[in-house]
Amino acid sequence: MFYLTYRPRKIEEIDNSPAQKTIEGILQSKQIPHALLLVGQKGTGKTSTARILAKSINCLENLFAKKGSSIEPCNTCKNCLSIDKGASSDVVEMDAASHRGIDDVRSLIKEASLLPMYGRYRVFIIDEAHMITNDAFNALLKTLEEPPSTVVFVLATTNQEKLPLTIQSRCVIINFRKAKKPDIVKMLKRVSSAEKLTVEPKLLDLIASHSEDSFRDAAKLLEELAIQKKLTVSEGKTYLGILGKEQLLEVVDKKSLKESLLWIDEFSKAGGNVKYLIEQILEELRVLLLAKNGIMKEDEEPLPVTFSMVELSRLIKLFQEAYNNLKNTPVETIPLEIAVVDFYNTGKIKT
Ligand SMILES: Nc1ncnc2c1ncn2[C@@H]1O[C@H](COP(=O)(O)OP(=O)(O)OP(=O)(O)O)[C@@H](O)[C@H]1O
Ligand SMILES: [Mg+2]
Ligand SMILES: [Zn+2]
Repeated sequence: MFYLTYRPRKIEEIDNSPAQKTIEGILQSKQIPHALLLVGQKGTGKTSTARILAKSINCLENLFAKKGSSIEPCNTCKNCLSIDKGASSDVVEMDAASHRGIDDVRSLIKEASLLPMYGRYRVFIIDEAHMITNDAFNALLKTLEEPPSTVVFVLATTNQEKLPLTIQSRCVIINFRKAKKPDIVKMLKRVSSAEKLTVEPKLLDLIASHSEDSFRDAAKLLEELAIQKKLTVSEGKTYLGILGKEQLLEVVDKKSLKESLLWIDEFSKAGGNVKYLIEQILEELRVLLLAKNGIMKEDEEPLPVTFSMVELSRLIKLFQEAYNNLKNTPVETIPLEIAVVDFYNTGKIKT
């Protein structure tokens, strides 16, 4: 899988530019904080960065081993390799989504009192840190404030607001925010050149715009398109449900049921992905609904359609239902077709 194969393994490969600069600055200063909090949306590089940091400060061949001036992990020494494999006893990863209780944290604290076996630091990576229970957080407070000098805690979370302030204030916070489009494109270029893919450059922009600001989603989408050999802009657009010609909603608005069903049939024959199409349609319906109520966003142009409020709300319900039904249908287009048929059946209500 692209998103695992091309997980950043060096600081240089963290394409999230603001986060990359911050982590670089921290390592270059050689003042390693004893607790870090990595905050940001899904797929922005938190877990990857935590592992890179663990390798960097434990590497046997870089600045921290007093060999040269590089802060990058070498990725070839035995410490780097065993951390990469998840086999180093010096680096402990805890998923707080499934280990959130006081006992989990107590055993972590106990482990933190042990000296590192192979490297210079023991690194405790706590993913989804906001899931930790209150009791467990309280138990962690003291250790987080004054851990043994050979211990570094790296907490990662998508929900900073759910972390007690007492915890936040004991950590150096690095904000990963959302992945920016140019950064995503940089990652996609790295992946496509390593995979020797011939991709139309504009397709990378298109993928970046459809990846929910997540590097992981973008890498997955590129892989889907690569597997299906749809690496031109027009193939990509079809796949994503944004056909160059009229969009489905416009056809539904202006034309007959027959023409709408033909549109879906053509879309499906061209290899379009129904799931993406419905996501796209729901997104557009939402923009229309907001616009109808005077709420406009800068970079969103509502489709030129004439649906009334009643119609919009019905369409949203119907497409939402179609989306839910996708999981249980042997023929992908059926839920979509039913949604459209139902809409025509109830008649248009232009009030
Ligand atoms: N900054 C980045 N640069 C390049 N690729 C990235 C970056 N961040 C994430 N990715 C891609 O997304 C995948 C997942 O990244 P990672 O696990 O680090 O994200 P995360 O922020 O921990 O997400 P989650 O909140 O879902 O756990 C990586 O394997 C990589 O393919
Ligand atoms: Mg993660
Ligand atoms: Zn190394």
